Amino acid sequence: MKNSKFLLGIAAAGVISLALTGCAGDRTGGSTGGGGGDEAGGIVGVAMPTQQSERWIADGDNVKSQLEELGYEVDLQYANDDIPTQVAQIENMISSGAEALIIASIDGTTLTDVLQQAADAGIPVIAYDRLINGSPNVDYYTTFDNFQVGVQQATSLLIGMGVFDENGERTDAAGPFNVELFAGSPDDNNATFFFNGAMSVIQPLIDDGTLVVPSGQTDFEQVAILRWLPETAQERMENILTIIGDTQIDGVLSPYDGLSIGIISALTSGGYSTDALPVITGQDAEVGSVKSIIAGEQYSTIFKDTRLLAEQAVAMVDALLQGEEPEVNDTETYDNGEKIVPSYLLESTIVTVDNYEEVLIGSGYYTAEDLQ
Ligand code: BGC
Repeated sequence: MKNSKFLLGIAAAGVISLALTGCAGDRTGGSTGGGGGDEAGGIVGVAMPTQQSERWIADGDNVKSQLEELGYEVDLQYANDDIPTQVAQIENMISSGAEALIIASIDGTTLTDVLQQAADAGIPVIAYDRLINGSPNVDYYTTFDNFQVGVQQATSLLIGMGVFDENGERTDAAGPFNVELFAGSPDDNNATFFFNGAMSVIQPLIDDGTLVVPSGQTDFEQVAILRWLPETAQERMENILTIIGDTQIDGVLSPYDGLSIGIISALTSGGYSTDALPVITGQDAEVGSVKSIIAGEQYSTIFKDTRLLAEQAVAMVDALLQGEEPEVNDTETYDNGEKIVPSYLLESTIVTVDNYEEVLIGSGYYTAEDLQ
């Protein structure tokens, strides 16, 4: 497959907006905002969900190092996907004088009280990658275009099965093709966006008979995997194999590389050989899954450059603490139930065996050795 425009939806907007180094004064002693006053090296609290997935480790590292380059002190915490732990960590950040908070939530609805404490202390809050719902005290949001991520996942699934050509145009392949669907954690606002984006492409093909879902499970509630746990996805795939018996699956919509690993395990223990797996998608371009793509097992992933996301979040915090207004490019999409949170959305890229070198190694995200 040649590199189509789908494969090269590179984050041009993100690249342009990254003038951090040019304007990066050392903020030591010069901070003005937030609850911590004017101490040297204002503290920024960074709350991340889990270290079980590489992407969040990369996010935390990138945010931390970029803030430190600007002279901020960073309190980076991971909550092991445990909601009370994350709440306690944020409370702690507030009481130890954080001047701003960057939060990638576990459950987007559970931070209302602690964010009220932040607001009372005058501490601005940036929602990082995942929207925080139900609170008026979310100042800004930075993420990828999550609906588009889902569109890309479905598009690559269909390219892999030959239903779409490399430009995303319908071929004359009639099918029917058997696909199973997975979605992310129902308490993560992104999961619905990914699924809705994917279904905007898939549903018409179910309706016209090109695609069949042998398990019959097509509702978000039926296909969602709480906390994005690979073992839960594996279990669900095993159950599906039991339900559908000998029916061969041609494709699996998976919204995250970790789930894809669980799904592949279920399929191989269920009798599929590794060189004849269904077309399986993913997200995050995690090392293990890129290796799986190179080995011809997983078909695709969605690359979201966490360096660019970190730069956006850092730029937002820095602007706020300098008394300036952060740059946004979306003021319509992300309604958290209390307000529309002004957002900066980045673009993502479909990665397959045909373009991983160019996209992942060429951009310096990984070295060739990382992927060996
Ligand atoms: C992120 C995805 C990630 C998933 C599981 C989502 O909120 O946007 O990139 O795959 O969480 O960690």
